[in-house]
Amino acid sequence: MKILITGGSGFIGTNFVKCALNRNHIIYNIDNLSLFSKDQNISHKNYIFSKIDIRNETEILEILNKFIPDKIINMAAESHVDKSISEPKTFLETNILGTYNMLEAANTFWKNNKKSSFCFHHVSSDEVFGSLKKNDKPFIEHSNYKPNSPYSASKAGSDHLVRSWNKTFGLPVSITHCSNNFGPYQSPEKLIPLTIIKCLTKKIIPVYGNGENIRDWLYVKDHVNALLDIMEKNIINQNFVIGSRNEKTNIQIINQICDICDIHFKKKYNYKLLIKYVEDRLGHDQRYAINPDSIEKKTNWSSKFDFNEAIEKTFFWYLKNKTWWKNLIN
Ligand SMILES: NC(=O)c1ccc[n+]([C@@H]2O[C@H](COP(=O)([O-])OP(=O)(O)OC[C@H]3O[C@@H](n4cnc5c(N)ncnc54)[C@H](O)[C@@H]3O)[C@@H](O)[C@H]2O)c1
Repeated sequence: MKILITGGSGFIGTNFVKCALNRNHIIYNIDNLSLFSKDQNISHKNYIFSKIDIRNETEILEILNKFIPDKIINMAAESHVDKSISEPKTFLETNILGTYNMLEAANTFWKNNKKSSFCFHHVSSDEVFGSLKKNDKPFIEHSNYKPNSPYSASKAGSDHLVRSWNKTFGLPVSITHCSNNFGPYQSPEKLIPLTIIKCLTKKIIPVYGNGENIRDWLYVKDHVNALLDIMEKNIINQNFVIGSRNEKTNIQIINQICDICDIHFKKKYNYKLLIKYVEDRLGHDQRYAINPDSIEKKTNWSSKFDFNEAIEKTFFWYLKNKTWWKNLIN
């Protein structure tokens, strides 16, 4: 398939591009290389990259008409919740207006091409469904929207636009809502890379509130396999939630990374001494969890990676790739 991806230089995007190239697809990546993103220098005969902002509809349409994709996967987004609290405007501009531009360009392109395989796939978040209490059932495809942060509100807004371009204009679409991803190439400000990097540099590991907030962790390689399975099976006009039934509190994750450091560095230092509880994030959601029954039944996908192995692999990736994250931090 010819797949046009937006945000393909970010964390999930980079993993998606690598996996899709391995699965013999032809990839066109559009990314404006915003903060914490850089060209990953992927050199492959089936890979094209253009540094473009998704808010630029004219340039996007020109690329679509030249590349003639089977699928568009829209991942470009402002993705950091804390930044959405301090600078919400850019989130509305990229996540809502940027998605609007992508939909307009996709719709114009599709009206002239009508490829039967064509689909606009939008990557969304479980955060659009709000916060769960301890005993609430995990999110499913029909959970109600209740976004709490400017980030999740902007993602919810973009989801509604995608749905409406399907209902109003007939554009073939699909939307997936994944839980928190982790793995290689994740930017250094997110919980797992942040904790690993703080351990490696022996700096304070900040923990919001009491550390008891729960996230449902999904290894990024499982996530991109799910996205490619949906595309390869040509599943159109359906939504899925994607997760791997892996609920952990933030403090459990941080302690586990400290334990990995203790073992790897032969207990030369007590990494848990670096943990410091700090003032909670404004409007911090208590719990997210996903029930992936539907995607498992309809696509045969299931998560393959064991959490303990995947977090160790992630730790060793950051240990081996210090230059990558040091450049981003600088
Ligand atoms: N990481 C997660 O745990 C997670 C969970 C749920 C949903 N998501 C969604 O998955 C997608 C990818 O997330 P990620 O973690 O890889 O984020 P990321 O921040 O690492 O990557 C986003 C990419 O989008 C690019 N981008 C931002 N604004 C752009 C613009 N205006 N034009 C073109 N490119 C632009 C950035 O340069 C970056 O490369 C996002 O839509 C995010 O909302 C992520």
